[in-house]
Amino acid sequence: MADSGTGGGTRGSSRMLGRVAVVTGGNAGIGKETAAALAAMGATVVLTARDPARGAAALAEIRARTGSDRVEIAHLDLADLASVRACADDLLHRHERLDVLVNNAGLTLSKRRETRDGFETTFGVNHLGHFLLTTLLLDRLRAGAPSRVVVVSSGGHKLARRGLAFDDLQWERRRYQGFLAYAHSKLANLLFTRELARRLEGTGVTANAVHPGFVRSDFGLHGDTSGPFALGVRCSRPFGKSSRRGAETSVYLASSPDVEGTTGGYFSGCRPARPSRAALDEAAARRLWEVSERLVAGRGTAGRTRDGTAGTGGERSSR
Ligand SMILES: NC(=O)c1ccc[n+]([C@@H]2O[C@H](COP(=O)([O-])OP(=O)(O)OC[C@H]3O[C@@H](n4cnc5c(N)ncnc54)[C@H](OP(=O)(O)O)[C@@H]3O)[C@@H](O)[C@H]2O)c1
Repeated sequence: MADSGTGGGTRGSSRMLGRVAVVTGGNAGIGKETAAALAAMGATVVLTARDPARGAAALAEIRARTGSDRVEIAHLDLADLASVRACADDLLHRHERLDVLVNNAGLTLSKRRETRDGFETTFGVNHLGHFLLTTLLLDRLRAGAPSRVVVVSSGGHKLARRGLAFDDLQWERRRYQGFLAYAHSKLANLLFTRELARRLEGTGVTANAVHPGFVRSDFGLHGDTSGPFALGVRCSRPFGKSSRRGAETSVYLASSPDVEGTTGGYFSGCRPARPSRAALDEAAARRLWEVSERLVAGRGTAGRTRDGTAGTGGERSSR
């Protein structure tokens, strides 16, 4: 296993000194451990959180564990594109450089919900919100290259066997099945990573995706799942690895010299892994990029503020 530096009390190496890393969903689970490990290596880390109290608690914990005072918090609700735009503005104002972006936040749902902008929430949060955030930060990543984008996907993408349903990305025409919607969103993560890497060829900005393994974080336990789905999540939870171990591949891709210049890959256990055939479909990757550009265009631009809180926030009611 590569030395990914997990930041659980050890100060780690100073490999990331002077670098700025952003970790979405950095207040919990795998994201919190990723943020802690990068902070322990000396990076300035901005962890994003949608809930200020949970964000503040994680910030205090990471500072205490790593002894670093270069850990910050930014508000980000990926279910609201105004918040995504405000967060990108905030990050661009705060830091002149951006070396690492870890698109980690994610969720799974039992019942179909919609984001503030009217997208199916799993697709909206796991893919579209991160798509917009990344594209808004791309110039800053390019300017400071070499720099890295790490996308936390899942081996669960393999359940989306027939590829993305471009005729029903919002799950309006099919019976909603939460675990399949999740699989599709994680396939979208892989197609996005592939197309991002292609578009960034020769710029010094790399993009790689991660399967963290099965991790006993709070994933699926925030009231997002119910019935048999929730029962399955709860019963299998004790068999998962710790969030700290689950963060190892994200940290490796964000920081290791072993993968300097490596791009367009899919990793698990700090090693290259084989994604599904659907995830290697270049035409689908280009199409998803173009569709995503159209979906986010102009959304979340009205009446927004720097902290992303005014007049907006979160999902619309379920249906
Ligand atoms: N756990 C596993 O076994 C497993 C396996 C494969 C892949 N993954 C992937 O790993 C990533 C991290 O998951 P985890 O296991 O660490 O789960 P977790 O403990 O539930 O953490 C998820 C993080 O995402 C944030 N988040 C959820 N909805 C958000 C939104 N609308 N806007 C902004 N942030 C939001 C959560 O914020 P709150 O704290 O406010 O809810 C939390 O910080 C996810 O992308 C997941 O798909 C996990």
